[in-house]
Amino acid sequence: MTPRKLIQQVGIERSEAELLLAHLLEVDRGWLIAHADEPLDDHRVGMFLTQAEVRAKGEPLAYLLGYRDFWTLRLAVSRDVLIPRRETEHLVEWALECIDAGAQTALDLGTGSGAVALACKAERPAIRMTGVDLSQQALLCAKENSRSLALEVDWRHGNWFQAVPETRWDLVVSNPPYIAANDVHLTQGDLPAEPDTALVAGNTGLEAIEQIIEQAPQALNAAAWLLIEHGYDQAEAVTELLRSTGFQHVHTRQDLSHQARITGGQWLNSLTGN
Ligand SMILES: C[S@@+](CC[C@H](N)C(=O)[O-])C[C@H]1O[C@@H](n2cnc3c(N)ncnc32)[C@H](O)[C@@H]1O
Repeated sequence: MTPRKLIQQVGIERSEAELLLAHLLEVDRGWLIAHADEPLDDHRVGMFLTQAEVRAKGEPLAYLLGYRDFWTLRLAVSRDVLIPRRETEHLVEWALECIDAGAQTALDLGTGSGAVALACKAERPAIRMTGVDLSQQALLCAKENSRSLALEVDWRHGNWFQAVPETRWDLVVSNPPYIAANDVHLTQGDLPAEPDTALVAGNTGLEAIEQIIEQAPQALNAAAWLLIEHGYDQAEAVTELLRSTGFQHVHTRQDLSHQARITGGQWLNSLTGN
């Protein structure tokens, strides 16, 4: 069987089949085109067909490949971490603006594969970056990415800010779990394969965000920003939580699909003695 025939006949999307086969053969997609009509050995054909079947049954492509490209980085991912999403790159963009405005220390709460922390560190090497996760397995993945990309981040295990007690930050970013336990989206796309602990936040979907906002004032330096990614229908609730906690300049940014995606606020109270 040749690459051309394999890719044509297998029951998954062509682009995914190409990526899977190239990964298995340890070549790039250009090689597949150049060698499209050269027969492959039966062993590799068998391995490819097995993987394609697993993909067709719903296993995320990123877990089969073992990586996902995020920002400018190729990140290793395993079933222990959320697969980094395109929309989270907007969180990186806003974080970089805060760093350019003077933030020197930054905390990524619920870092998973380390996506946000590592992208910030790659773009602004001077930032002192810390990443926290409650999942030890996720932290192992983040540390592996940190090592292979040679990006230095301080990785801490624990529950939100409790993982870094007695510390104050110029910038806190988070893409926390924000899906309600009974939300139908949990049965769709890649979500059934991803860890529940990365996705689900109680019956309302807001529980993790509430905890982070409640704990944040004790952990923020004057004029620090708190930036939170959330569900498309949660901007109003997150705005209200931030305002009622005392954050100022609260506003929401949209993702490329024009969905309200990230809400942030600035902590100015320590400047006024509160
Ligand atoms: C939606 S994932 C985000 C992962 C990564 N930041 C990204 O954007 O790809 C949420 C992460 O929060 C972590 N998490 C959940 N509850 C936590 C808690 N109480 N304290 C710290 N991390 C927590 C999960 O383990 C998971 O890695």
